[in-house]
Amino acid sequence: MKEKLLELKENFSKALESTSNTQQLKELENMYLGKKGLLKEILAGIKNLSNEDKKTIWVESNELKVFILKKLEWKSKEIEAQKFEEIVASEALDVTAEFPSKDLGHKHPITTATELLEDIFISLGFKIEDGPEIETDKLNFDMLNIPDNHPARDVWDTFWISDEINEDKELWEKYLLRTHTSPVQIRTMLKEELPIKIIVPGRVFRYEQEDARHTCNFYQLEWLVVGEGVTFGDLKWTLDTAMKSLLWEDTKTRFRPSIFPFTEPSAEVDVSCQICKGTGKIKEKKCSMCSATGWVELLGCGMVHPKVLTGCGIDPEKYSGFAFGMWIDRIAAQRFGVSSSRMFYQSKLKLNEQF
Ligand code: PHE
Repeated sequence: MKEKLLELKENFSKALESTSNTQQLKELENMYLGKKGLLKEILAGIKNLSNEDKKTIWVESNELKVFILKKLEWKSKEIEAQKFEEIVASEALDVTAEFPSKDLGHKHPITTATELLEDIFISLGFKIEDGPEIETDKLNFDMLNIPDNHPARDVWDTFWISDEINEDKELWEKYLLRTHTSPVQIRTMLKEELPIKIIVPGRVFRYEQEDARHTCNFYQLEWLVVGEGVTFGDLKWTLDTAMKSLLWEDTKTRFRPSIFPFTEPSAEVDVSCQICKGTGKIKEKKCSMCSATGWVELLGCGMVHPKVLTGCGIDPEKYSGFAFGMWIDRIAAQRFGVSSSRMFYQSKLKLNEQF
């Protein structure tokens, strides 16, 4: 019987070698250890043995059973591991694979111009602020010294939020799409300690007739400095310094007196048109970027109006400030030599891919 057990062990080991899946393993277990299995068959003859032999065979057959079970378990683990490796190999993904770079997107010229401006102002010690594109009438107009009946409201004609939301509200609390980044001046003065030195890049909206320089949505960069002893001289110095970093060496700037209800005195700054090099003409045709004047209006600016300061709880006797509102789209057009800032909004890949 001993030999039979030994033979069974050898046969089992050989059979195990050639199994390659769990189904075959199950069959092998049944064949050797099952109710009608080979081990049971051998043990059927045990009753004819002496007591002494019965004992040894019993022990040995038990050891054989444990041996078989262990081997089966080990083989089953091996099969599982192999299966896993196969899955890993078949689903392998090379995350370092390179894609042709022409399919990658890149920055829009307005984003590039905004980042350029941010870098200049950060180097001058300015902080970047942000504000909502949906504003209230109060912040967009009233607190900037543009009351309900003020004629200047016409300049900033805008889009109002739907009647369902606005109809039960007083005018000052009605929602609109902000027409300039100037409301963020108010938001900042209301919440920040003095001195304030911020820039606000952002999208603004106007109810406009579209042409080469006008679109119903565009981007502005607001600058605001408020503190003790801030003068018009500081305004000019900041403007000159920023313009020198931003534009070309041969660019001329021009200061024109202007009117904004929230600044006093106020000015507008033009730069010589980069598209037609200040001549007003491109190949004998009128330059549409500057309406053939040779100059492009780039920003409005001025000293913050005392009424605006007072409205934000700042004493105009003690503090003063200056503010600018700059047209980022026009800067991008000048900087990249694009003849109409409207083109930036026409999803023209051919245009964007040049920069
Ligand atoms: N908010 C003004 C506009 O959009 C620009 C401006 C800003 C003028 C700050 C003066 C001071 O037209």
